[in-house]
Amino acid sequence: MSTFTFETAPKIICEQGGAARLGEIAKGLGISRLFLVTDAGLIKAGLIDGALASLRSAGVDVTVFSDVLADPPELSVQAAVDAARAAAVDGVVGLGGGSSLDTAKLVALLARTPQALPEIYGIGLARGPRLPLIQVPTTAGTGSEVTPISILTTPSHEKKGVVSPLLYPDVALLDGRLTLGLPPAITAMTGVDAMVHAIEAFSTRLKKNPLSDALALKALQLLYTNLPAAVNDGRDADVREAMLLGSLFAGMAFANAPVAAVHALAYPLGGHYGLPHGLTNSLVLLPVLEFNLAAAEGLYAELGRAILPELASANDSTASRAFVAAIRARVAAMPYAQNLREAGVKESDLPMLAEDAMKVQRLLVNNPRDVTYADALALYQAAY
Ligand SMILES: NC(=O)c1ccc[n+]([C@@H]2O[C@H](COP(=O)([O-])OP(=O)(O)OC[C@H]3O[C@@H](n4cnc5c(N)ncnc54)[C@H](O)[C@@H]3O)[C@@H](O)[C@H]2O)c1
Ligand SMILES: [Fe+2]
Repeated sequence: MSTFTFETAPKIICEQGGAARLGEIAKGLGISRLFLVTDAGLIKAGLIDGALASLRSAGVDVTVFSDVLADPPELSVQAAVDAARAAAVDGVVGLGGGSSLDTAKLVALLARTPQALPEIYGIGLARGPRLPLIQVPTTAGTGSEVTPISILTTPSHEKKGVVSPLLYPDVALLDGRLTLGLPPAITAMTGVDAMVHAIEAFSTRLKKNPLSDALALKALQLLYTNLPAAVNDGRDADVREAMLLGSLFAGMAFANAPVAAVHALAYPLGGHYGLPHGLTNSLVLLPVLEFNLAAAEGLYAELGRAILPELASANDSTASRAFVAAIRARVAAMPYAQNLREAGVKESDLPMLAEDAMKVQRLLVNNPRDVTYADALALYQAAY
């Protein structure tokens, strides 16, 4: 028998064009003075116009905060929190990629119950309560709309997480139309991030459970199958919705069965070089899969059989190798840098990056195989 706990957001709405109902949804949560957290790219792409019109016609007073920065630095989150307090808002919407959603979570938390950010890094240290929170993802994606995690960049260039069940939103709203214009490179990077969430949740060492497994398998099927079409023909609404669902399922999975060495090695690349989160995962993914292969053979074989029907009767050794080869081919077709050198990383920085990766024990403990400093360095060298 399995003993496990599974948590997710209490309400998930998936609806093409659903952003046009945001006003009604906010009203349903008793919100009348709303703080909308987004970034300048989304304003420029015209993606918040429909949401704003809906909120205003429902009589909701809206303050727009569009200064979210990628891999949110602590200071930019603090600025958002201060602006929300000054506007005396009673609810928060995050509308954007993971950076906007992660910022919105902390605004909802800290606008209501002030705590210093450094006090709440780690697991379960936030006091709450928080303001009502609606999350609307526009990348597929981080799955942040259904995770209890917010990832920030500290002044010393470390990526640190706040983990608390208070960070689950009241409502996650998936509107595939918002992702139709996502450019190919961002589609590719964020889609690979979501695939990594599914792979790492399925092979995580400590909290793997039947629900996270079912979600991770379905997520990987959706993401692996639809990613090429999403990158090559972004205007297909069904493909975009499949990617958002894949990202959601992967998020639900890794919220309960946490990610591991791929993310632990990716974080220092984001922290020191400002490379996009999905790209950093992609750059270290294949070396980590090869490194884990012997320890995770049975699990990688199951993942292989989930995405490649021809492996149905293959043994674990064959199916796990075919899985790694299939992921390698998917990643190789993506329109972005394929190794650390191309991404502009200095070879002389690899020891420093490996030292930083070793600090991410929160995630390394979940890896199917132990990772030492020497392993981390060898993995970065393999990714170079
Ligand atoms: N909380 C979690 O569980 C979790 C999980 C994984 C990653 N993250 C974090 O999320 C962040 C990365 O998020 P992301 O990869 O979604 O990227 P992002 O939020 O940083 O956005 C990347 C870029 O895409 C643009 N963009 C977003 N949606 C668009 C759309 N529909 N059309 C056109 N442009 C659009 C944005 O303007 C921005 O320039 C990182 O900080 C990462 O650490 C959090
Ligand atoms: Fe991620």
